[in-house]
Amino acid sequence: MRFQLIVAHAALAAAVLFITRNPASVLHKRDAVTPAIFACPATSWPPNTIGAANLPQEPSEDLASMLVQVDPAKIEATILKLVTFQTRHTLSTQNSTTRGIGAARNWIHAEFQKYADASDGRLTVETVGYVQQPDGSRITFPTLISDVVATLRGTDENRLYVVSGHYDSRNTDIMDYEGDAPGADDDASGVAISLELARIMSQPDYPLPKASIAFVTVAGEEQGLYGAEFLAQTYANATPRVNVEGMFTNDIVGSPKADDGTVDPYVIRLFGQGLPPITVENSATRETRLTIGGENDTPARNLARFVKEVGENAATQMNVSVIYRLDRYLRGGDHRPFLEAGYPAARFTEPNEDFAHQHQDVRVEDGMQYGDLPEFCDYEFIARVGRVNGAALWSLANSPGMPTNVQVNTTALSNKSTFYWDPPLAGEEGVEAYEVVWRTTAAPFWTDVIDVGLVNEATVDLSKDNVVFGIRARSADRMRGVAVLPFP
Ligand SMILES: *[C@@H]1O[C@H](CO)[C@@H](O)[C@H](O)[C@H]1NC(C)=O
Ligand SMILES: *[C@@H]1O[C@H](CO)[C@@H](O)[C@H](O)[C@H]1NC(C)=O
Ligand SMILES: *[C@@H]1O[C@H](CO)[C@@H](O)[C@H](O)[C@H]1NC(C)=O
Ligand SMILES: *[C@@H]1O[C@H](CO)[C@@H](O)[C@H](O)[C@H]1NC(C)=O
Ligand SMILES: [Zn+2]
Repeated sequence: MRFQLIVAHAALAAAVLFITRNPASVLHKRDAVTPAIFACPATSWPPNTIGAANLPQEPSEDLASMLVQVDPAKIEATILKLVTFQTRHTLSTQNSTTRGIGAARNWIHAEFQKYADASDGRLTVETVGYVQQPDGSRITFPTLISDVVATLRGTDENRLYVVSGHYDSRNTDIMDYEGDAPGADDDASGVAISLELARIMSQPDYPLPKASIAFVTVAGEEQGLYGAEFLAQTYANATPRVNVEGMFTNDIVGSPKADDGTVDPYVIRLFGQGLPPITVENSATRETRLTIGGENDTPARNLARFVKEVGENAATQMNVSVIYRLDRYLRGGDHRPFLEAGYPAARFTEPNEDFAHQHQDVRVEDGMQYGDLPEFCDYEFIARVGRVNGAALWSLANSPGMPTNVQVNTTALSNKSTFYWDPPLAGEEGVEAYEVVWRTTAAPFWTDVIDVGLVNEATVDLSKDNVVFGIRARSADRMRGVAVLPFP
C-alpha cells in the first residue's frame, strides 16, 4: 500500500508537469508534494465501523519451504542453456539438435521430464502443438508451433492454474529467423521460472495441491501469441471445459534496471486488465457491470489483487506493483489469449525495461552493447519474481477456489447489503467459511473483511452504494480464495 502510493504520486506529479510545461520537463524530477486531499486517506470515507482489517496472507509452512528453494543458480543455468541454441525464433530450424527452436523445445521437455521422473507420478509432461499455416504476416511457411506443458496433478477434479513463459525469441527484424537471437530476458527468464517452480512443487515431500498447476513454456509469442492461443483454446474447448481460475505469463522478468540506470530490484509489475474482452462478457452483463461500478472488479483485477495479498512478504522480498491495464503500450502478451478464452489472466514484467536489450540484434554501436544477452540478467531478481509466482500459484491452488453465482439483493432500497452465492465449482468440502471483503470505491485493494461463516447468504450493515464488495471462500488452513464481485 505504501509503495503503491509512491507510484501513484509520482505519476500524478508527472502528469501535472506534462500539461503545464514543455514536454521534455516530464524527465525532470518532481518538485511538489501531493496535497493530502489526493492521498489515500482521502478515499477512506465511510469510516470502518465493522469487520476487521484485511491483512496480507502469510505463506504456509510448505510454501515457505518451497520459496527458499528457488535457486538463482538454476535459473542462470536455464537461461545460459537456452541462449546456446543461438536463435529460438519460431520459424528457425526444428531439425537440428544444437541450434534453433526445435532443439530448445526438446531440451525444455527433457528438463521437465527429469522433474517428472523424480515426482512419484505427480508431474506429467507433454509437448502439444499444431501446424500454423502462413498468416500473411509473421508466419511465412507452415510452421509447427509447440507448447511444453508440465502438469502437477491436484486433488480437485477440475480446477487449474497456469504459469507460462515463451521460449521463442526474436531480434530487430521480426522475420529474421536465421540471425542469432539470444532472448535471455525475453523470454528465457520466464521459461526459467516455469521450470524452477515445476522442479520444486513436484517434489514428493510436499502434499499435492488441491487444484492442478500447469507449468508451461510456449512458442510463437513474437509471431502472434500462437502457442498461448493454442493452449487457451485447447483448455476452453475440452469436454468438460477446463476451469482455469488463473493464468500468469512471465514475459521479460530478467532485470530490474532501466536504460538510465534506475534500478528497482524489489519491484515486479503485474498487469491486470479491467473490462474483459467484449467476446467474453455480453453487452447486457457489461451494461450491468457499468451501472454498478464494477469495471474495476473483473476476474483479472481481483486475481491481481490476490497476488498482492499473498506475494508481497518477507519470503518473496518483493513489492507487487499492480498496473490497472492489459499491458504496456504497443506490446502484447500470452495472457491475452487466456483472457479472450474467458479465463482470469495477468502479466508479470520487470519494473524498468531497457529497450536496447530486447528485440535487438546483438551488436556494438557507438561503444554501446545492444542485444538480449544473459550479461544483462539479474538472477537474484528473477528468483524473487519466481517466488512471487510460487506464492501466488501455491496459495491459489490450495485455496477453495471462487464462489459461484455471487449476487447482491437490489430489490428494495436499503442501507444494508445482502449477498447470496453458491459454493465453488470444486464443492464446499474445502470451505471452512466465507468472507465478505470491501473497500471504498476509489481504493485500489481490499481493505476490510468480515467472516460470515459457512453460509450462502449474508447481510452486512454497510451500504453497497459507498463501497465495493467481494465474496471469497476460505479453507480450514486459512487459505483464502480470490474475491468475486456480486452482481444484482
Ligand atoms: C526439417 O526436416 C523436414 C523433414 O523431416 C523438412 O521437410 C523440413 O524442410 C526441414 N525444416 C527445416 C527448417 O530444415
Ligand atoms: C520493497 O520491498 C523490499 C523488501 O521487502 C523493501 O526493502 C523495499 O523498501 C520495498 N519498496 C521498494 C520501493 O522497493
Ligand atoms: C431481497 O430482499 C427483499 C427485501 O428487501 C426480499 O423481499 C427478497 O426476498 C430478497 N430476495 C431474495 C432473492 O432473497
Ligand atoms: C438509510 O439511512 C438514512 C440515514 O441514516 C436514513 O435516513 C434512512 O431512513 C435509511 N433508509 C432505510 C431504507 O433504512
Ligand atoms: Zn516476450
